[in-house]
Amino acid sequence: MTHHKQSKMILDKAFKVGEVDDRIYGSFIEHLGRAVYEGVYEPDHPLADEQGFRKDVMDLVKELNVPLVRYPGGNFVSGYNWEDGVGPVEDRPKRLDLAWSTTESNQVGTNEFMDWAKKVNAEVNMAVNLGTRGVDAARNLVEYCNHPSGTYWSDLRISHGYQQPHNVKTWCLGNEMDGPWQIGHKTAEEYGRIAAESAKAMKWVDPSIELVACGSSNRSMPTFADWEATVLEHTYEHVDYISLHTYYGNRDNDLGNYLAQSLDMDEFIKSVIATCDYVKAKKRSKKNMYLSFDEWNVWFHSNEQDKQVEPWSEAPHLLEDIYTFEDALLVGSMLITLLKHADRVKIACLAQLVNVIAPIMTTKGGEAWQQTIFYPYMHASVYGRGTVLDPVISSPVYDSKDFTDVPYLDSTAVFNEDHNELTIFAVNRSQEDALTLDCDIRNFEDYQVIEHTVLENNDVKATNQDNHNNVKPHSNGDAVVTTGSIQAHLPKLSWNVIRLKKMA
Ligand code: AHR
Repeated sequence: MTHHKQSKMILDKAFKVGEVDDRIYGSFIEHLGRAVYEGVYEPDHPLADEQGFRKDVMDLVKELNVPLVRYPGGNFVSGYNWEDGVGPVEDRPKRLDLAWSTTESNQVGTNEFMDWAKKVNAEVNMAVNLGTRGVDAARNLVEYCNHPSGTYWSDLRISHGYQQPHNVKTWCLGNEMDGPWQIGHKTAEEYGRIAAESAKAMKWVDPSIELVACGSSNRSMPTFADWEATVLEHTYEHVDYISLHTYYGNRDNDLGNYLAQSLDMDEFIKSVIATCDYVKAKKRSKKNMYLSFDEWNVWFHSNEQDKQVEPWSEAPHLLEDIYTFEDALLVGSMLITLLKHADRVKIACLAQLVNVIAPIMTTKGGEAWQQTIFYPYMHASVYGRGTVLDPVISSPVYDSKDFTDVPYLDSTAVFNEDHNELTIFAVNRSQEDALTLDCDIRNFEDYQVIEHTVLENNDVKATNQDNHNNVKPHSNGDAVVTTGSIQAHLPKLSWNVIRLKKMA
């Protein structure tokens, strides 16, 4: 017999969080492991295009409708000389990458990556190296990428075959500079100063760009919150966003606690907003600081195997987490969490996109396939564009090791007024029971359910590694509208996408 728990929700057009900035569906490609080489770029692959980019991978990236890709790191960027990756490929040096103890061949660099991004309809969120380098290399890269012509760096770009500027709009001022693992790790004061000075120079070269300052590498860093406050004291007037990073893992195999981790992400976002607003208050500023959650995902499966990798190899198998069904549920809840903060989180990047902690995997010379986490990410990116509504939710709750009052129902909704569409995203965290959802949609007259997609599986540890179609969504959910409310069953441990459209 199936048991049910009851949940209720109210959706009203007037209760809004804010507009979704499409860039919250961004992702990330780092020169790390097989993300670039054997991932997006494999010139000998039968499906490689004229530039060596895998067309099967590009097709999957397009399915995800990724608007923005952060590049080239990550930890990698803190030792990267961008000049190594431009100009004739045969002249490019091989370098030690100290971040990942690998050898970087520089066969792909800034221009090739800009070409790839254009092919998948994405913009690039370019990171500059504030680890081993600083103001000079950063402003030169902006000039190389964005200045039309008539100067040393812009003419160098033209001589490399790129007449038109790349017009990169969004830039990261380094990466995780608070972490001792970072090449050129800095104190908050040291980083705040170099970030402010780099920001000034970069914006003097191109005033149209937007800049992301590094926040803490995660919420449990000992310097968390003080780091943000100090960095923003130095940079507030020069930057537009502060970054957040977080990775979760079910290390203790405690599913109830694992699925509640999105509540930690929610607290993290709230704390960073509070810190931004504290600095705003101190400065009597009128400007709001926005958030760029530019690394988020599940990352833990590959930790042990990565210790076995031979140092200084090229494109080794690194950070190749194979995701389970339960990981897809948490990724769904993390997407819901980002949406709930659409008024302040304007950029987010699922870390990463191909092979490295990624929704898309490739086999050298072989196929490309979708991991379990591909699906919630795709659903949110494709259907979650418009205005995020602020639902009133009542759900039974549970307690876990680290969290109290965890709602079984985790949900939000996006109203796309242009297309007369309303989409509800919902996770049922219950391991025992289906949830009945009774959702009052009061002023959404004439809206009917057009699809109720469900991702569910009897085995929480199921992956798509051997059978690539093992964990896949199906569209046989039972949501219906009856007299102004949606009635649905959300199966135990499921990710649901309920799509409605105005019929009259
Ligand atoms: O995404 C993998 C790594 O995680 C990134 O290089 C770094 O920024 C973070 O620690």
